[in-house]
Amino acid sequence: MPDAADIDRLRAEFRSALAAASTGEALRALRDRYLGRKGGIVASLMKSVASSAPADRPALGRLANEFKREVESRLDEAREVLEAGRPVAGAVDVTLPGRPVAIGRLHPLTIVRRQVEAVFGRMGFEILEGPELEDDYHNFEALNIPAEHPARDMQDTLFLARAVPQNAPAVPGTRPGRGRPRENRPATLLRTHTSPMQIRYMEAHEPPVRIVAIGKVFRRDNPDLTHTPMFHQFEGLLVDEGVTLADLKGTLTAFLREVFSPDTRVLFRPSFFPYTEPSAEVFIGCVFCAGSGCPVCKRTGWLEILGSGMVHPAVLEAVGYDPERYTGFAFGTGIERVAMLKYRVGDLRLFYENDLRFLEQFSL
Ligand code: DAH
Repeated sequence: MPDAADIDRLRAEFRSALAAASTGEALRALRDRYLGRKGGIVASLMKSVASSAPADRPALGRLANEFKREVESRLDEAREVLEAGRPVAGAVDVTLPGRPVAIGRLHPLTIVRRQVEAVFGRMGFEILEGPELEDDYHNFEALNIPAEHPARDMQDTLFLARAVPQNAPAVPGTRPGRGRPRENRPATLLRTHTSPMQIRYMEAHEPPVRIVAIGKVFRRDNPDLTHTPMFHQFEGLLVDEGVTLADLKGTLTAFLREVFSPDTRVLFRPSFFPYTEPSAEVFIGCVFCAGSGCPVCKRTGWLEILGSGMVHPAVLEAVGYDPERYTGFAFGTGIERVAMLKYRVGDLRLFYENDLRFLEQFSL
């Protein structure tokens, strides 16, 4: 005959069997096993309670009825939960939010590059790249940088040990330079600026010219806060009849106000570049102190952002343009320099270290 401990044991067995039943099929089998009219565990229990000693019957009957009600209500509840699509113990919870997938984002230098392309693209400039391996003629000579110029110094320029053969395939869309010095092994180097693209483009096209060339440049510098041996530049060139310094100022002011802010103050100061005359350094009001003077702008209130000028007649002559008929302006600067000022990054090397804590801070 059953006693109270037997009923406790049945209850414990039922609870663990229920916890393990995660499908409708398993629940139905459990219901048959416990509540089946013939041979069901509950029915058998009731039968044996009925035949127990009359003195034990009321107490045992109460316990058996409690057990029966628990089996019924828990089985009903489990079915409802399953039907409502909610999880039962041990099942996969399809209502949980998914695991987040980290999506990539654009590198800050890519963001600035694309902005440069977009702004000048809207102004009608053609966006180009160009060869990173250059020759002395395009990188220096045709840009009116004379042989003794310090920019050619071994300290600055990375030369290749072996020269590229004279009959190396031409860069698509360009033809060999006119007036190239007749040396049998011209120096091959990593371009130190994107300005040689001025020459390459003008050699292959007649005016009018409106281009912006973007890409990597290389210099023999040791890395520090403001130097890395590779960085990126963009170079602009516009040549046509009747182009003036006012066109240069208007174009660059419009560009800087799009990249920084519409109220950015812009200053043009006379300077020197071999390939422009006159030349101008372009400054913006200091983004750190809003012009009141701070250590970054060396208390001047201005930050240098671009080099520029009117294309030197010697450069136009080198590509066969008539300097009496055509004038133009050119400008150039580092993508990194723009990015450092736009995002107030104090160390150039951060752009190349791929530390996600740094890269995650930038969005369009
Ligand atoms: N080539 C210069 C540099 O590497 C930048 C530059 C200055 C480009 C003046 C120009 C220019 O076209 O007119 O820093």
